[in-house]
Amino acid sequence: MKTDHLVLYHNIDQVLTLAGVARKEGRRPEEVDLGAIENANMVVNSETNLIEWIGPSQKMPVEYGEIVNAYSGAGELWIPELIDCHTHLVHAGDRCHDFALRAQGKNYQQIAQLGGGISTTLRATRETPLAQLITHAQNELERFQRYGVGTIEIKSGYGLTLESECRMLEAIRALQETSGVILIPTFLPAHMVPPEFKGKADDYVDVICREWIPEVARLKLASFFDCFIEEGFFNLAQTKKMLEAAAGFGFKLKLHADQFTSLGGVELGVQMGATSIDHLEQITDSAIRVLANSATVGVLCPGASLFTGTSYAPARRLIDAGARVAISTDFNPGTCPSRNLPLMTTIACAQMQMTVPEAIAAVTFNAAAAVGLESNWVLWKWVNTFACAT
Ligand code: NIG
Ligand code: FE
Repeated sequence: MKTDHLVLYHNIDQVLTLAGVARKEGRRPEEVDLGAIENANMVVNSETNLIEWIGPSQKMPVEYGEIVNAYSGAGELWIPELIDCHTHLVHAGDRCHDFALRAQGKNYQQIAQLGGGISTTLRATRETPLAQLITHAQNELERFQRYGVGTIEIKSGYGLTLESECRMLEAIRALQETSGVILIPTFLPAHMVPPEFKGKADDYVDVICREWIPEVARLKLASFFDCFIEEGFFNLAQTKKMLEAAAGFGFKLKLHADQFTSLGGVELGVQMGATSIDHLEQITDSAIRVLANSATVGVLCPGASLFTGTSYAPARRLIDAGARVAISTDFNPGTCPSRNLPLMTTIACAQMQMTVPEAIAAVTFNAAAAVGLESNWVLWKWVNTFACAT
């Protein structure tokens, strides 16, 4: 048998395949669902990056014994490569001033009203040329990779003119070509009402629907559309109008909802077939039931709660109700300047009463579902899947 293109990893202490998690669509993951294989061997095709065979070492077909490129995984635990399904990774500048204000007791909306918050990052990002955005984001990507992350969703939302939103999305496209990470681009023009439209949110929504959505669709710069439904940002009617327009142009949908106040975003998102609804810190009991009875993934952002000193999303109630729950960093300069996705799972377990299997599923299979990659989760055949996380 020709084996030059194959790599054998042998005697890995334990590999988690998450086979049961996938079977249950990520709902209520338990330890048995992690599909642990002890003393495992794995054969990877280095040309396609697909896993050809995985199983207990003593059951490996004899022909794979001839593989020359062989490495020992003794003493290691392998899990699927992590997916960060919600980030604002492309941006410029910092938000240290926000943090100082927060430490003086100001909340997110108050900081925004004082001219800080998203506006600060907006000013910095608008002024930054494409090449510089790319270099900065490339550095950030490398830091994510060191945490075992191999797929990252990245939103626009710090430009809020068609030109600067496209520049952010072009940065993502450029990075996709050069970095080894799978990037999922999301168009987020409704992150806040930009200064040009101050007091004219409806007009801004109109422009997004009539001009920006068609243009970004034409340029094929994003696969998802996202919107921040929140008091002082966008209301339910405006959000509905934008989601409908975006869906009409073939965008898959995401939402930032129920972060500080509950405005009915979950019910709307589910009704519109959103792939994920993110944050959910203030989700109501009835909205939990709606989400649990849907395929929409609830993406929790523990880091944003930690850094803003606000309450955590009710992970326990969401999972017990049967919702599909993912965890992300929500990496952004304002509410979560941390790239540490494994730390987010630790916070989820220590502060949000999630179990370890639930947390592992939340940054792997459920995170894949949150970025529309769930159907690619065919075990042993998923490109780029397995990373060594010892
Ligand atoms: O997910 N909530 C809105 N968007 C971000 C924060 C972005 C920012 O403050 O720059 C979030 O927390
Ligand atoms: Fe966010």
